[in-house]
Amino acid sequence: MMMAGTCAARPAAAALALCLALGLLRAFVPGAAHGAAAQRPAAAQASGAPMGMGEQPQESPLLGAATRLLAGAAAAGLLAGLSAGAARAEIEDVAIPVDGKGKTRNLSKEELIRGKRLFNVACGTCHVGGGTRTNQSVGLGIEELSGAFPPRNTIDSLVDYINAPTTYDGLKDISEVHPSIIAADLWPKMRSMKQQDLYDISAYILYQNYVIPEKWGGGKQYY
Ligand code: HEC
Repeated sequence: MMMAGTCAARPAAAALALCLALGLLRAFVPGAAHGAAAQRPAAAQASGAPMGMGEQPQESPLLGAATRLLAGAAAAGLLAGLSAGAARAEIEDVAIPVDGKGKTRNLSKEELIRGKRLFNVACGTCHVGGGTRTNQSVGLGIEELSGAFPPRNTIDSLVDYINAPTTYDGLKDISEVHPSIIAADLWPKMRSMKQQDLYDISAYILYQNYVIPEKWGGGKQYY
């Protein structure tokens, strides 16, 4: 029964076929049938015989081991296949908006890693997990970025922000209180940053929004 339950819960066709095959195998091997196994303890009790280890319902040990091994291998293979597929889809299939006119870009793994590394060095202290320390309402989640003026939900507009950051309403220059390029004399980590670096950081921020939309910018419950 347990085996049947596990099989029904597993959706993939390959695993299902394996489950069916194993089920058939179990049904045709003497001693492995569930019905016979279930009746044995009742018979033992009725005759007053003590229930020793020998009376425990048992399936053929070899078959049991083989079944577990095969099922385990199938599950592991299935998981490996799924996560490999997800990883591929994550990086190369995600279209990151470049400007407000519909232009998009797909990142390479190298660009993504570069952006992440630079972000962690220059921004991570305040923006860990996409939140904003000291002002959680102006985080790096896509909703907040989209609500800013001008909207900061594209690579170009984020690059612009890192060059010359402004308040959320776009009215005031905050380059002296937020890391920036125009006031790089005040921000040691920004001094060596090239425009390509800002680009990669921005792409990484947007990528995170597509891959972990709830976590990124989700605040203390996650980080
Ligand atoms: C010293 C802390 C600190 C560091 C370091 C920092 N930020 Fe910020 N960031 C803030 C704060 C505080 C705000 C909110 C500013 C406001 O009130 O408008 C903010 C706001 C932002 C916003 C606007 C978000 C929105 O929803 O409009 C962006 C984009 C941003 N930061 C990107 C970056 C990037 C990229 C880096 C790294 C190069 C960085 N920040 C480094 C503290 C920091």
